[in-house]
Amino acid sequence: MSIHKVMVIGAGQMGSGIAQVCAMSGYEVLLHDLKEEYVEKGLGTIIKNLSRQVEKGKMAARDKEATLSRLTSSTDLKNAAGVDLVIEAAIENMEIKTKLFAELDEITPKHVILASNTSSLPITEIAAATRRPEKVIGMHFMNPVPVMKLVEIIRGLATTDEVYKKVEKMAESLNKVPVEVNDFPGFVSNRILMPMINEAIYTLYEGVATKEAIDDVMKLGMNHPMGPLTLADFIGLDTCLYIMETLHQGLGDDKYRPCPLLRKYVKAGWLGKKSGRGFYEYN
Ligand code: CAA
Repeated sequence: MSIHKVMVIGAGQMGSGIAQVCAMSGYEVLLHDLKEEYVEKGLGTIIKNLSRQVEKGKMAARDKEATLSRLTSSTDLKNAAGVDLVIEAAIENMEIKTKLFAELDEITPKHVILASNTSSLPITEIAAATRRPEKVIGMHFMNPVPVMKLVEIIRGLATTDEVYKKVEKMAESLNKVPVEVNDFPGFVSNRILMPMINEAIYTLYEGVATKEAIDDVMKLGMNHPMGPLTLADFIGLDTCLYIMETLHQGLGDDKYRPCPLLRKYVKAGWLGKKSGRGFYEYN
């Protein structure tokens, strides 16, 4: 069965970005969240992004309207009964995800593929909450989703080749580049990125240099588009901490120990750009 209709669960930064690229590529999309106001906020971000593209002359106004016409809001998970693919981009919490996947397994017809956009949680464990582990897979998009080309596609222990190929093709249809990885903590992207960010935080914590200097070194010296502390603020410091804890726990090596300064900032509610303050201040 081919994929026409997609449900994206979670209308936050990642979910709304995924919904946007799916709708832009011709899929019918249900953007789902717990409350109407969350979905409205996600749709508002999409409208803003598309309008900016139109203003810049990079998208025709009629394409914007066509994209928006393919987006429908949902607050009832039972709507998943009518889709071919679910992409879950809810909060990074194993209990919530397994409960969600067990419910989706009940609601959706047998052919439906259940994908998770988790940034570091084991796909195999999420899959074990369903009776179709062969149809559960990771589709890890990068932030900002409309801009970044990569989709890390993570095979769970039981994911079949057929499901993998279908999801790979789907990712290509979004004008993304799929990369295959196996199911280990942090996959490839966050296993490499997060220790670098954590080390940048240690560098600040130990007084090696100022935050601006650390970011400048990596931006100007390594050609990174953003310095690691700016990037951490952009991703969200709570997310960075959560991923470091997953790496530390899952791989067992102390080299993944989250920096105490990162813990302190998260405890203070300094979560980065989204909360108005992280390593930098935002207004
Ligand atoms: N949503 C949609 N589009 C956006 C955007 C957003 N949030 N932010 C920027 N853009 C678009 C702009 O509209 C612009 O589009 P056009 O080229 O069509 O005009 C383009 O991106 C470039 O934007 P800017 O000129 O404003 O800014 P920039 O050149 O500094 O680029 C950036 C911004 C793309 C975010 C760039 O700084 C960058 O690549 N940063 C690193 C991002 C990164 O590393 N992401 C991965 C994070 S890790 C992750 O996501 C995984 C995880 O599990 C934690």
